[in-house]
Amino acid sequence: MAGLIPQTFIDDLLSRADIIEVINARVPLKRAGHEYKACCPFHDEKTPSFTVSPSKQFYHCFGCGAHGTALGFLMEYDRLSFPEAIEELAASMGLEVPREAGAPQGPDHRPLYDMLEQAAKFYRRQLGQHPQAARAIDYLKGRGLSGEVAAEYRIGFAPPGWDNLLRQFGTSARDIDRLRDTGLISEPDGKRYDRLRDRIIFPIRDTRGRVVGFGGRVLTADDGPKYLNSPETPVFHKGRELYGLYEARQALQDLDRLLVVEGYMDVVALAQHGIRNAVATLGTATTADHLDRVYRVTPEVVFCFDGDRAGRDAAWKAFNTALPFMRDGRQARFLFLPDGEDPDSLVRKEGAEAFTQRLTQALPLSQFLIDKLAEQADMNTLDGRARLAELAKPLIAKLPGGTFKTMVEQHLNDVVGLAATPAPEPGPRRSRPKATALGTIPPVRRAVVLLLQRPDVAAQADLPSDWNTLDMPGIPLLGDLLETLRQRPDISPAALIDRWPDPETRRHLARLAALEIQTLDDAAEQFRGVLVELSRQARNAQRRKLQQVYRPSAMTDEEKQRLRELYGAGKASQSEPGRGGD
Ligand code: CTP
Ligand code: MN
Repeated sequence: MAGLIPQTFIDDLLSRADIIEVINARVPLKRAGHEYKACCPFHDEKTPSFTVSPSKQFYHCFGCGAHGTALGFLMEYDRLSFPEAIEELAASMGLEVPREAGAPQGPDHRPLYDMLEQAAKFYRRQLGQHPQAARAIDYLKGRGLSGEVAAEYRIGFAPPGWDNLLRQFGTSARDIDRLRDTGLISEPDGKRYDRLRDRIIFPIRDTRGRVVGFGGRVLTADDGPKYLNSPETPVFHKGRELYGLYEARQALQDLDRLLVVEGYMDVVALAQHGIRNAVATLGTATTADHLDRVYRVTPEVVFCFDGDRAGRDAAWKAFNTALPFMRDGRQARFLFLPDGEDPDSLVRKEGAEAFTQRLTQALPLSQFLIDKLAEQADMNTLDGRARLAELAKPLIAKLPGGTFKTMVEQHLNDVVGLAATPAPEPGPRRSRPKATALGTIPPVRRAVVLLLQRPDVAAQADLPSDWNTLDMPGIPLLGDLLETLRQRPDISPAALIDRWPDPETRRHLARLAALEIQTLDDAAEQFRGVLVELSRQARNAQRRKLQQVYRPSAMTDEEKQRLRELYGAGKASQSEPGRGGD
């Protein structure tokens, strides 16, 4: 298991990354003076208000307020997690991400992957060797599968019997643990036996090709549940994996489209007919994790469903899950198959060409939306059409902004035949804000702005040190920023911001970093001024606390001394007792 990425590497990477390159590779930028511009990829607009500053290394959209660093952009635009975005950025700069040894991020799952790989080989061998394997081979042939496709998908056979796998691999306590942890054996009431017996085996591989689980199909009806799958394990999550995705990526250079079907047999039957871009969910509804995965490798998804009631319901669920993923350039379509058919039965019946022809007739997402809502509203009356528009609103709101969203709205308006409702988002375009005077920003925030825009202010020698005891929002953040800058004075503001794992904080900081300030000429004094003021407030607060809590007679000598110090250092007001002044 990979260890943590060293913070120094992240800092260096982010200091060296160029936001212009990162964004330009995804959204072509045009030079405009000292900055670069484009139409904002995060909301719909016709004139560019998305601005990228090479000197500040930030992007900012004056239309929708989106802003952030190169890393933040990658995370938002490519929908990456923090470590993924680091990987992506490093790769684009030709760098390998180092991992700290001895500080693993999680438990080491390699033994589990090893065990699963061994099991896949075992099942595969049994298909070739076991005395009962002829039944399995006949079954597969009967379903039209060739040896080549079976081999490509590593289809195997779990022979009849309770402990074939167990006897082969469960020779030590450690291996029995691994068989259990990978879900290969079950142990109800203390008895231990192979989970999959007398079944055709479909190994499920993750995107890297590692076997993470298995599906097993009975050879004859009424031999128990038709399919049995691996349970959830540390390396297998049904809601994330898609059967056939690894194989599809292996087979095809360009995945311009993926079909999402329901079953293992659908995937392999389609592959048998040369349709190599099908993947199956594993007996669950399509999840956001699934879509996250597919839209990273393809711009278009066609969902295939049964034409029956259950299929329609499943489609509606998938539709709702898909809405937030519909950024410009992506597509989702819905194919309903004739009653009683699935992709496997259809492609075998009518062949690849006819099946592919059906795909062209899959309903686009917008049409599916309207058809579905039209079932709930009478399109023949004005009221019904208005109701349809009402029903559509919350759904359309789930779409990310962009041309696609506008198109769907337009389409809906055309259908409903109502006067176009003014687009609620993104509102009137805000013009470029005026530069802010530092003095108008509240003190703690002002100090943060200064650290981000003039990091050199952190290096001043004579800053007070006792300012950060105040219990005030922003103080811990300011303290962290200052501390980091003192340790790494060369860090870029973008890298500084990206040290914060919490996206909310990063956004907040990026906004402050991009704030246009009238003048930063007196940054050093301004910064010291804030800290001196905070320090004064901190001492006053402590003094008040000591006075409230303790009467002088009840004070320890230490507390009395502290109080004297506080008066000595602070400016005591007239009414306060003790030695005031300095
Ligand atoms: N499934 C499952 N567990 C079950 C039934 C189904 O995990 N008990 C999943 C499997 O991934 C299976 C898919 O749902 O491939 C489709 O199931 P089903 O519609 O029952 O498949 P059929 O097309 O009837 O299966 P086959 O073609 O193999 O007869
Ligand atoms: Mn089927």
